Amino acid sequence: MSNSIKFPEGFLWGGATSAGQYEGGADEDGCGLSHMDYIRYLPRKEGMYHLVLNITPEMFEDYKAHDAAHDPEYYFPFRKGVDFYHHYKEDIALFGEMGFKTFRMSIKWSRLFPTGREEKPLTEGVEFYHNVFRELHKYGIEPLVTMTHYDIPATLTESINGWENPEMVALWTHFAKFLIDEYKDEVTYWLTFNEINMAANSSYLGGGMLVEKSGKKPLTCVHQAFHHMLVASAIVTKYAHDTAPQCKIGNMIARLHNYAYTCQPADELATMQANQLNLFFEDVMARGRYPQTMLNYYRDNDVVLDWYPDYERILQEGTVDFLSFSYYFTGVISDDPDKREPRGIFVRKLKNPYLKHSDWGWATDPTGLRITLNELYDRYQKPLFIVENGLGAHDKLETDGTVHDAYRIDYLRQHIEAIRDAIGDGVPVMGYTPWGCIDLVSMGDAQMSKRYGFIYVDADDEGNGTYNRYRKDSFYWYKKVIATNGEDLS
Ligand code: BG6
Repeated sequence: MSNSIKFPEGFLWGGATSAGQYEGGADEDGCGLSHMDYIRYLPRKEGMYHLVLNITPEMFEDYKAHDAAHDPEYYFPFRKGVDFYHHYKEDIALFGEMGFKTFRMSIKWSRLFPTGREEKPLTEGVEFYHNVFRELHKYGIEPLVTMTHYDIPATLTESINGWENPEMVALWTHFAKFLIDEYKDEVTYWLTFNEINMAANSSYLGGGMLVEKSGKKPLTCVHQAFHHMLVASAIVTKYAHDTAPQCKIGNMIARLHNYAYTCQPADELATMQANQLNLFFEDVMARGRYPQTMLNYYRDNDVVLDWYPDYERILQEGTVDFLSFSYYFTGVISDDPDKREPRGIFVRKLKNPYLKHSDWGWATDPTGLRITLNELYDRYQKPLFIVENGLGAHDKLETDGTVHDAYRIDYLRQHIEAIRDAIGDGVPVMGYTPWGCIDLVSMGDAQMSKRYGFIYVDADDEGNGTYNRYRKDSFYWYKKVIATNGEDLS
């Protein structure tokens, strides 16, 4: 059946990146450091997954001290990314060659406002993004811009503990409103926050916070941060609707669909509740109010929030135009306390025996993507955009400059087929931007070895290499997929 289903005309095929992992140039043209710029590369060891993101106040102080002393043992990979700052023309030409219709990128807040507190932005930073947008339009590529993909000026982590503090709402909306005012004629599609739910996994990464420094218990601190981000997002969404009605504003969550471990009703109930908690963010941003399920969760877990003044009206007035999400894997939930997932990690304790797993333990589940698309559309009736998906893998650059990544083609093919099936189910899907369309620094491990791209970048985990770009086999395959609007997936 799926072969007769067509992708809609104007489907936005493309690829996704983030400033923090891609852009580099963190010490150029007055740019300030972000809190991500203090994440250090640590060689991956069994059981160490995500340690790089779980930064404690002691680690933060240690990193700052070694950074100040220029200790060569301390490498901070997000400062360099893969140097889009100097390669943007070359990279965009490659995206153009693949036929991209859209390109997802984000803005580094501290490139415009180094400490997050300046009234006026830096001219060099403002011009850099104008140049990038101009270059994209030269190739007929529509920018899809995430206002904030995790990174906040590091000074705001230090001075006010990031998103825990209500002051962040005013500071961030100042930045985000500037983006709308300045770039509204060049950028139609905007996402407010990348994976707004990320602080549940890493409060440092997602909230720019060191929870140990907060006077609150960790869960309260995290949900206080969510509250401030949701309010800030709604304020800016309404601002864009009022001042730039041609712009379309979306949200972005890390979508995680869970299956019940067994068909015991208790497992099913636990699964439903886990799914509701994940959908909480969509509920607020699409429907404009806190769902009862989350209020119950607060009651049951002693989470007491300081509600932002007038937040109910703000949320109601600032609902998004479309929903976007990242999709990498699904989870498995059991009601059995011994089988419950520990909080704060991505690799699931309960493995799904019916699925294959990547080298990083991520379950490959294209059917889960079709389920996710149907579930989201049934629940919200808003257009959907898959703005991240892909396979992180070890790639090998051959001596002749080729990279044979049939495993990636296979992965993407299966997921594109699942999207096509969901379109056949009646789900309006706006586009698909596979993650890390060009190799960049992996978020979870702060390393280059985990690669997602159609384009190989010659750089290693410690920042050595030529940074030259090479087309992988998947580059030519995706070019054909786009040229045929998803008809030819062979
Ligand atoms: C998403 C993030 O969680 O997953 C990206 O939005 C991230 O920033 C991507 O890079 C893949 O994760 P990782 O850990 O493989 O880089």
